[in-house]
Amino acid sequence: MGTVVCSCYAPLLLGFLLALLLQTLEVESRTLNYTSYRKVSSLRLQRIQRHLDNINKPSVLTIESPDGDLIDCVHKRKQAALDHPLLKNHKMQKAPTNMPRGMKVKREEKEKEWQMWHKNGTRCPRGTIPIRRSRVHDVLRAKSLFHFGKKQPRFSLTRRSDSDAGNGHEHAIAYTGSTEEVYGAKATINVWEPSIQVVNEFSLSQIWILSGSFDGSDLNSIEAGWQVSPELYGDSRPRLFTYWTSDSYEATGCYNLLCAGFVQTNGGIAIGAAISPISSYDANQYDITILIWKDPKVGNWWMSFGDGTLVGYWPEELFTHLGRHATMVEWGGEVVNTRANGQHTSTQMGSGHFAGDGFGKASYFRNLEIVDTDNTLSSVHNILTLAQNTNCYDIHSSYSNQWGTYFYYGGPGNNPHCP
Ligand SMILES: *[C@@H]1O[C@H](CO)[C@@H](O)[C@H](O)[C@H]1NC(C)=O
Ligand SMILES: *[C@@H]1O[C@H](CO)[C@@H](O)[C@H](O)[C@H]1NC(C)=O
Repeated sequence: MGTVVCSCYAPLLLGFLLALLLQTLEVESRTLNYTSYRKVSSLRLQRIQRHLDNINKPSVLTIESPDGDLIDCVHKRKQAALDHPLLKNHKMQKAPTNMPRGMKVKREEKEKEWQMWHKNGTRCPRGTIPIRRSRVHDVLRAKSLFHFGKKQPRFSLTRRSDSDAGNGHEHAIAYTGSTEEVYGAKATINVWEPSIQVVNEFSLSQIWILSGSFDGSDLNSIEAGWQVSPELYGDSRPRLFTYWTSDSYEATGCYNLLCAGFVQTNGGIAIGAAISPISSYDANQYDITILIWKDPKVGNWWMSFGDGTLVGYWPEELFTHLGRHATMVEWGGEVVNTRANGQHTSTQMGSGHFAGDGFGKASYFRNLEIVDTDNTLSSVHNILTLAQNTNCYDIHSSYSNQWGTYFYYGGPGNNPHCP
């Protein structure tokens, strides 16, 4: 008798669970159309869930963003950062010992609403930080659980054999010579919504703080800016992001707070959340200001947003070369071109317009500055520029009193000159 009952209920239960699963997947795919759900084994789902349980910390409050993101307010001390084995004895820093000299710090005005989730109106309670929650479909879009939140290795930019220099990654960047000691960098970056042709391509505009060698396995990199990445976020919105690696993008580091490492101190900015409003062609222009510098006493690499609003820091312990200083800074755009259908894809960089189109049309970086040995911020005067294939994306730098050292950059990707 018992076995009869079981064989009756088992399929029922299974059917119920399946229906539940399909229902959730359907709900998610209504808001996120980028995930293609191949068959996912329950073992894989379990593994993904375990990983997510590790990085999504218990929240005091969850805020629903109009774009579908969930923002978890997590106690500062409960954030994933300190799970990192190198940070066992790390003493959490509340604030840097010094801002760079020459930095104009504005007394905090009322926090501006510049992220999509701010439009909800609810803020995270004191003592907590907002963290964009990662969900199963975010992981399902990655090549594998290992690849989730990671960036593909890049190769030396000086190997200029255009599109195959670095597995389809293409750049239009400005950079400092590679012999100096650099302790930080700053820029104001125009924000656009470049279109992406293929889900696993991306388009970003950022600052790189670098040390180590491009050709070895020891490149240390700290990165921040905005990116459009359908694979990582499931949509085409530009989002504030951070990244770090201490081994040339191999095993260490990740985007945002998707692994232990970056310590967030700010209670009002969610890393990985969408930026809003964004610039429109020949109309309103919006930009974000990012400064990254090494705390001269403690050694951690701090990040500030806008006029000196602290976001958080990368502990010195995470790095080898950057434990001392950086040797190069890069500013600019990067896209991935997968050559889908055997052609350069039409994934855009910047605004999707070439540098020559200028203000309101092409995207810009302005007021490029670096932090020197004395913790002093000053304008960069000798920058070099590089674009792998100027028929696809290009860059023009210049100088003016208001904008200091600046450049326009970007392009449409595929066009008659970029087949
Ligand atoms: C999702 O994509 C499919 C096929 O590409 C399309 O038919 C459908 O309308 C899309 N759904 C939404 C909500 O955008
Ligand atoms: C804000 O988030 C809360 C909590 O998730 C939700 O209940 C509420 O509907 C959201 N409000 C708006 C205006 O989106």
